[in-house]
Amino acid sequence: MTKVLIAGGAGFIGSTVASACLDEGIEPVILDDLSTGRPEFVADRTFYRGDIADGDLVDRIFRDHPDIEAAIGCAARIVVPESVADPIGYYDTNVTKGLALVNHLLRNGCHRFVFSGSAAIYDSGQAITEDAPLKPLSPYARTKAAFEGALEDITGGSPLRVITLRYFNPIGADPKLRTGLQTTRPTHALGVMIDRYRAGEPYPVTGTDWPTRDGSGIRDYVHVQDLARAHIAAVRRFDTVVPESGPRYLPINLGSGNGTTVFELIRAFEDVTGEPLAHHLADARPGDIAGAYPAIDRARTLLDWNPEHSLQEGIAAALAWIKIRHTILKDE
Ligand SMILES: NC(=O)c1ccc[n+]([C@@H]2O[C@H](COP(=O)([O-])OP(=O)(O)OC[C@H]3O[C@@H](n4cnc5c(N)ncnc54)[C@H](O)[C@@H]3O)[C@@H](O)[C@H]2O)c1
Repeated sequence: MTKVLIAGGAGFIGSTVASACLDEGIEPVILDDLSTGRPEFVADRTFYRGDIADGDLVDRIFRDHPDIEAAIGCAARIVVPESVADPIGYYDTNVTKGLALVNHLLRNGCHRFVFSGSAAIYDSGQAITEDAPLKPLSPYARTKAAFEGALEDITGGSPLRVITLRYFNPIGADPKLRTGLQTTRPTHALGVMIDRYRAGEPYPVTGTDWPTRDGSGIRDYVHVQDLARAHIAAVRRFDTVVPESGPRYLPINLGSGNGTTVFELIRAFEDVTGEPLAHHLADARPGDIAGAYPAIDRARTLLDWNPEHSLQEGIAAALAWIKIRHTILKDE
């Protein structure tokens, strides 16, 4: 596989996947409307600015690059509270425009699609497998579940084949710090922890009697570089993992496989900074959940993938990126 289309390749995950592709000798062709993506992340890369639903643009990309062998779909809107305030906008981008993109891919003979799925579609639980019942709790999560369902249906009635990579919480940055999180205020537990640490404020541990190994909530973190490696494995092994002859839709979890409780996250953070992290215990907030972590046997077996980066490396990379971020994202 030598050339792939990355829709959303100017965003946090797509740009890291693009960097990893370049490092592995795969040319990424990036399509992004820069709604949240950054021009700095596509400088010196093959880049088309525009909407994934723009059929003329997608046709032009395939005319310019008839050797694209697979598409990776990272383009989406991803902020949960925003999806509550603007559900139509979220369904429009994450479902309607996603369907338009799939149509354009099929019209151009591109039948291999690696989709950025989300663990937000699962219920709380431990060692969740890909067959676990879904329980998406927000409009955002429901758009991801709805689009997965649509993709599965489409693979049943068209030549499309899909690997959905269901990410747990991506952390860290590109190891060469070419790209990282654009936003200064990520909402996952590590993002909030970094925020409080930098502001010199104590971190609130919300809820300490959850049914977990130490009573604090449990989440799962995966280094974004490990996610990028999984995309490369998915592209390279595509025809073996979803052959034309078999079921043509397959979801695969990507996470650490163990989960990390909030207290464990605090200890890992302290390992990295070498100083105690001020924190206080607080009641669970309305809507909080015990949390989830995945079984990752399918990724191990089918993609020969294991997370290589530790939680500490993910935290260190996130902190390193924050330090140099302003030198790359010039307008901030
Ligand atoms: N970041 C997370 O915590 C997380 C967790 C699980 C799954 N995901 C999934 O991973 C994918 C990438 O997320 P991210 O964190 O990189 O987000 P991001 O916002 O950094 O990247 C999304 C990219 O898509 C582009 N985009 C959005 N709508 C577009 C459109 N209509 N046409 C063209 N480009 C468009 C944006 O400009 C941006 O560059 C999403 O599908 C998201 O659902 C993210």
